[in-house]
Amino acid sequence: MKGLFISMEGPDGSGKTTQIELLKEFLKEKGYDEIIITREPGGTVISEAIRGIILNKDYAEMNYMTEALLYASARAQLVGEVIKPALESGKAVISDRFVDSSAVYQGMARGLGVENVYKMNEYATLGILPDVTIHLDLPAQVGISRKKEQAELDRMEREALSFHEKVAEGYRELAKRAPERIYTIDATQSIDEIHRLIVDRVSKVLEL
Ligand code: TYD
Repeated sequence: MKGLFISMEGPDGSGKTTQIELLKEFLKEKGYDEIIITREPGGTVISEAIRGIILNKDYAEMNYMTEALLYASARAQLVGEVIKPALESGKAVISDRFVDSSAVYQGMARGLGVENVYKMNEYATLGILPDVTIHLDLPAQVGISRKKEQAELDRMEREALSFHEKVAEGYRELAKRAPERIYTIDATQSIDEIHRLIVDRVSKVLEL
């Protein structure tokens, strides 16, 4: 079986983690016995340390380029240490966020430019892109309200609602640009229905 790379994207609080667990079970049933689940920023010791810097709520003065480069650094370590070797040995990888998060949050919402951000990330990703990207589409307000109920908000979550609205809209725009790879699902639906739609899409792409 050849390696398979799926990324899960969407605004904060869109339910990615729940859906990743369900998708993992589905892939297991389909014969992928080694499934690596990872998250960004994070997924390795060094990337988790970088995550601690990026999301630290006390670093409000961080400039946008520093932020973009730190996300790319965390990604470079994750790709080199985990994702590339896993794909090369035929494993399935599901990542909670990948380079499209940078395209949307840094490229669109921060205004650095989508093309600039993809370019900057070519080094970090070694040109690796997901086979399938699931975009969980949710109104910004709904996602942030969910986050507020769960824990103390991190540096990104503390941004104004207008920032999160740019993120939600940015994902919709990005999905339109790459419809063959990025599949949008209305994440206000039930967990079961969202899972069914994800499985449908993944099955089609993998010809399962
Ligand atoms: P996380 O706690 O993983 O958020 P969530 O549970 O919503 O996925 O924190 C990651 C935060 O970092 C989230 O606000 C999105 C943001 N982010 C970027 O701005 N750029 C990126 O490249 C990545 C990977 C995440």
